[in-house]
Amino acid sequence: MQDLSQKIAIVTGAGSGIGLGIASALIKAGAKVALTDIRKEALDQAMAHLETLGGECMAIEVDVSDATSVQAAADQVVERWGKLHIAVNNAGVAMHGMHLEQYSLADWDWVMGVNIHGVIHGIRSFLPFLKAHGESAHIVNTASIGGLQVNPNFLTGPYSMTKYAVVALSEALRNELTGTPVGVSVLCPAAVDTDIHLSGRARPERLGGPTERPETLFVGEAIKGGMDPQNVAQYVIQAIRDEQFWILPHAAPQSWLEARHLDIQAGFHWASKQA
Ligand SMILES: NC(=O)c1ccc[n+]([C@@H]2O[C@H](COP(=O)([O-])OP(=O)(O)OC[C@H]3O[C@@H](n4cnc5c(N)ncnc54)[C@H](O)[C@@H]3O)[C@@H](O)[C@H]2O)c1
Repeated sequence: MQDLSQKIAIVTGAGSGIGLGIASALIKAGAKVALTDIRKEALDQAMAHLETLGGECMAIEVDVSDATSVQAAADQVVERWGKLHIAVNNAGVAMHGMHLEQYSLADWDWVMGVNIHGVIHGIRSFLPFLKAHGESAHIVNTASIGGLQVNPNFLTGPYSMTKYAVVALSEALRNELTGTPVGVSVLCPAAVDTDIHLSGRARPERLGGPTERPETLFVGEAIKGGMDPQNVAQYVIQAIRDEQFWILPHAAPQSWLEARHLDIQAGFHWASKQA
């Protein structure tokens, strides 16, 4: 999809960080953008900022972990603008810093509810509209480099597990949509300078309610000075234009993934010697 002008887009988790960067870049490219987020105050601030760019946008309060809420947002966008061309399933939360057995069941429900079910709900609610008009369309899922390897230096297991799921869902979508007008990308950045370490402040009541967890705050230090969300957004816009599946904006993780693949190959080698 080379020309993004007048295309209709929806971005989840667009109140701040990477989602806001993507929404801004889409508006600058001429698209009409629906910003969705669970935090109304973040949406208000984002709208005030985006309206200065002169494009057309709307804000919808959405909890991506709630299927009904995501469907209502999709319906509202199509009711207002008639179509949907670009969907960015970006909302996500960080849950780092503790050992796996220490998390409560509500913790697991939250991280899976937002990071996995949020994307599933987006696929279920946005994809039928992306397909409906037969024009070029595109779906972007925000995973993470944590969706391709589990960082050995930080306790990121639950987060990584959810991001592996986002990568798998995206690969499945790519398989299913090959040869159709709907392109797919999966965004796998390393450190991006955002407030993701504060995710617990917007934890829905039914998934445990707002939670301040000191164990997760180190993430804020780790990503400070990371890539600017606006830069990440430029990769996303270009990937939509180029129909590029893998979006890997950071160079450093390439060697981590090569080491992981060697480790997996060693597993095959070990098995071949058992026969
Ligand atoms: N920051 C990084 O270093 C980094 C790296 C790799 C991947 N990511 C991924 O990028 C995406 C965006 O994160 P970010 O870093 O911009 O963080 P962020 O916290 O700035 O943005 C995430 C947004 O999602 C919203 N959100 C949280 N729960 C929600 C829910 N239930 N429903 C709707 N919206 C909800 C938040 O209010 C927030 O505005 C996430 O999926 C994250 O996992 C971030």
